[in-house]
Amino acid sequence: MTIPNAKYPAQQAELLQNCVAATIDLALNMKQLHWNIRGPKFKSIHEFLDIIIDHARLATDEMAERMATLGQPAIGQRGSLPESSLASLPDEFVTDERVIALGTSALEQTIATLRDAREKLADLDAVTEDLVIGMLADLEKDLWMLSSHAM
Ligand SMILES: [Fe+2]
Repeated sequence: MTIPNAKYPAQQAELLQNCVAATIDLALNMKQLHWNIRGPKFKSIHEFLDIIIDHARLATDEMAERMATLGQPAIGQRGSLPESSLASLPDEFVTDERVIALGTSALEQTIATLRDAREKLADLDAVTEDLVIGMLADLEKDLWMLSSHAM
């Protein structure tokens, strides 16, 4: 199977693989915060973090499947991925205000990775670029909503 007129599949896959790794890291970090949040904003943030995780996992899946569609294998195993570039989180309970700060920072970093890929994809393939734009719309809305929990 080949996509008619599709160009630069290897270059596209390299950019998408960075995004796959970034969204896997984001989902893992958000789960860590989801489990260990403490404070008066527990319920709303605990539940909202699961929405972000759903978006991150959907993005991982969509981008990995786009790689496969382009004839390029996707890498998603923990042992095969580069070390996360997100700040490591405390292995303990975290106050709700700190969760907002840590979660916002992780989202900002992930969005920066996807925006960088989007910019480069603009010169390679409009369909792949459009896919990443859709994922960015979800994550950027999540950034607004999570950061709006802060006092
Ligand atoms: Fe849960």
